[in-house]
Amino acid sequence: MAVGQGAVRDLAEAMPGGGGGLVPVHVAIIMDGNGRWAAARGLPRIAGHRAGAQAVRRVVEAAITHKVGWLTLYAFSSENWRRPAAEIVDLTGLLRHYLRSEVAELSAQGVRMHFIGDRARFDADIQNELARAERVTAANSRLNLVIALSYGARAEIAAAARHAAEAALAGTLDPAELTEDKFASLLTTAGTPDPDLIVRTSGEQRLSNFLLWQGAYAELVFLDVFWPDFGEAHFAGALAEFARRERRFGARPG
Ligand code: FPP
Repeated sequence: MAVGQGAVRDLAEAMPGGGGGLVPVHVAIIMDGNGRWAAARGLPRIAGHRAGAQAVRRVVEAAITHKVGWLTLYAFSSENWRRPAAEIVDLTGLLRHYLRSEVAELSAQGVRMHFIGDRARFDADIQNELARAERVTAANSRLNLVIALSYGARAEIAAAARHAAEAALAGTLDPAELTEDKFASLLTTAGTPDPDLIVRTSGEQRLSNFLLWQGAYAELVFLDVFWPDFGEAHFAGALAEFARRERRFGARPG
């Protein structure tokens, strides 16, 4: 059974007064469209990323309001390093600013922060901020906020396979015992429920190397809104779409 399979709660339980549908335990979002949002306004791309950071605040609040337990945000892919140097400076600068200015407030809201991806590629001061954010929010439990930074699912899966191969060679892992659950425990998301719902904004309909293993059974929702315009109503709409879908995990209709 997939980890996420049991990870969906009844809406009536999650939201007093609400009723009927299902609330995903884990929502993952591909935040796309910052650049196009800025271009449509004749603004530089960094203006779109700044507005995107405001939308991050809104989606965290929406996740708390809707009692979603886990929220994963794709903030920077391993491919994003190929963008022009000036945009990388802008994006990493924004990340630095976000970490320095937002973590105290997020912690006060009960948010526990965690980062996945190749954090070693960031400057040392950002790596320190990431570790600090995880440390100061570690005891919180209202919302688990996972931010994917320099993340690529294929690299993550290859690293897990490499780790398993090395353990087998060292004699500490019997290949016959490399089950799906064991393999999942070697991924950077070990201990995290699989995403029940993956949302992508901006109208693009791709996963772009995001949570390829973990999202095996996720419902996919693609929204025609640029990320900087994303708000509570879009989040609620995606949850409503999720609740309408019938999830069978490959089983026949009963
Ligand atoms: C995709 O839009 C967005 C990104 C590559 C960066 C995401 C960053 C943020 C939402 C802001 C910062 C986040 C944090 C957590 C501080 P795009 O630039 O690919 O847009 P386009 O496809 O329209 O060009």
